[in-house]
Amino acid sequence: MTSPYFRIADLAPHAGTSVTVQGWVTHLRSKGKIAFIVLRDGTGVIQCVIVKGQVDEITWARFAELTQETSVKISGELRADARAPGGFELAVQELEILGLSPLDYPIQPKEHGIDFLLDHRHLWLRSNRQRAIARVRNELEQSIHDFFYERGFLRVDTPLLTAAIGERSGLFSTEYFDEGNAYLAQTGQLYGEAAAAAFGKIYTFGPTFRAEKSKTRRHLTEFWMIEPEVAFNDSDDNMRLQEELVSYLVQRVLERCKAELSELERDTSRLEPVRAPFPRVDYSDAVAILQAKGSSIQWGDDLGAEDESLLVEDHDRPIFVVNYPREAKAFYMKENPADPRTVLCNDCLAPEGYGEIIGGSQREDDHDRLLQRIREEELPEDAYGWYLDLRKYGTFVHSGFGIGLERTVAYICGLPHLREAIAFPRMMHRLRP
Ligand code: 4AD
Ligand code: MG
Repeated sequence: MTSPYFRIADLAPHAGTSVTVQGWVTHLRSKGKIAFIVLRDGTGVIQCVIVKGQVDEITWARFAELTQETSVKISGELRADARAPGGFELAVQELEILGLSPLDYPIQPKEHGIDFLLDHRHLWLRSNRQRAIARVRNELEQSIHDFFYERGFLRVDTPLLTAAIGERSGLFSTEYFDEGNAYLAQTGQLYGEAAAAAFGKIYTFGPTFRAEKSKTRRHLTEFWMIEPEVAFNDSDDNMRLQEELVSYLVQRVLERCKAELSELERDTSRLEPVRAPFPRVDYSDAVAILQAKGSSIQWGDDLGAEDESLLVEDHDRPIFVVNYPREAKAFYMKENPADPRTVLCNDCLAPEGYGEIIGGSQREDDHDRLLQRIREEELPEDAYGWYLDLRKYGTFVHSGFGIGLERTVAYICGLPHLREAIAFPRMMHRLRP
């Protein structure tokens, strides 16, 4: 074949010329002397038309061999056609079969159970819906990097094999030579704090691991988290950074992922109002509001998923719940001077039942109080010596947060469960494919 090869997304400027494309057959249709192939190459979709008599006999006969997911190389004339999906049609001149696909392709245009789909995740990824989600995720990842880069943050990559524990949730551990147990990182934060003292404004972007035994729609055992940490930011500065980031992400996806949101049938009118500032609700007020709505929550409890939904239902954008009780949160959060039963922290809760997408706090910067908290939580003190050093050598007010990538993808795409928000989800009962 001599005509130049293009990805489908790059075809537009070449209308009226002869081009070659490669991809997988998604649909086949024929009517007498005319046959249609819908071809997908990952960048787009194009309809290819074969007319009997306008191609040689061998090419016409080859059409009959095609099945869903057969990989092919097609050359022909690219014509603008307003009725065709994508606005172009390819008038086939040559058709080459690259790889046949047996008729038992597992993913069919019918209802499949979720376990079946997850077992075939490697093939399910080829569907339009999954492609749309992956593109929104990609746009979000790029937006996050752009947001922090434009604001002078340094990206720091923190270790995944660690000795210190960051959060209270379950730990994956593995033997580490003569050093005892290594834990898969639940957070990059503690290292982020060390980096903030070195570089001022930093963020991490990486996988984190939690041996969560919960089978909820909001928990994965492996998820990606972005954790900014800023020297000399207090809790209020921290929330301003969060609302600025979340608004930026939502508005950018609305602007750049219109086709994907439409494929996902996302009600974008629910995303349009997401602009800073976000309402702030004190934890104690939140408990009162929830009790009035019939929740059984007591002062001191962490908010459950149900409580989070109830709280945000009156708002058109995410909200912050601030200053939770000390017992409900991690050891490193700074005691609230105005009410020492509480800590200077916030969760950012998304509307429409999505709940917590961010957890953030001002960090305890007093050496002795931090040491006391480490002891109260019965954490292995020797693993935290370096962390305490940050309070010994020029302690500093600092704050940061962690935003869960999959929770953000699920919220913006309107997905009912996190399992579709990542290419190969890891959950309590799922390690394959
Ligand atoms: O609230 P978390 O546990 O906070 C931290 O890890 C802090 N170290 C962050 C920081 O201050 N630097 O987790 C932060 C976010 C949650 O709000 C949620 O979006 C996400 O991480 N997350 C999960 N996402 C998927 N599956 C899980 N099991 C998750 N656990 C937390
Ligand atoms: Mg949290």
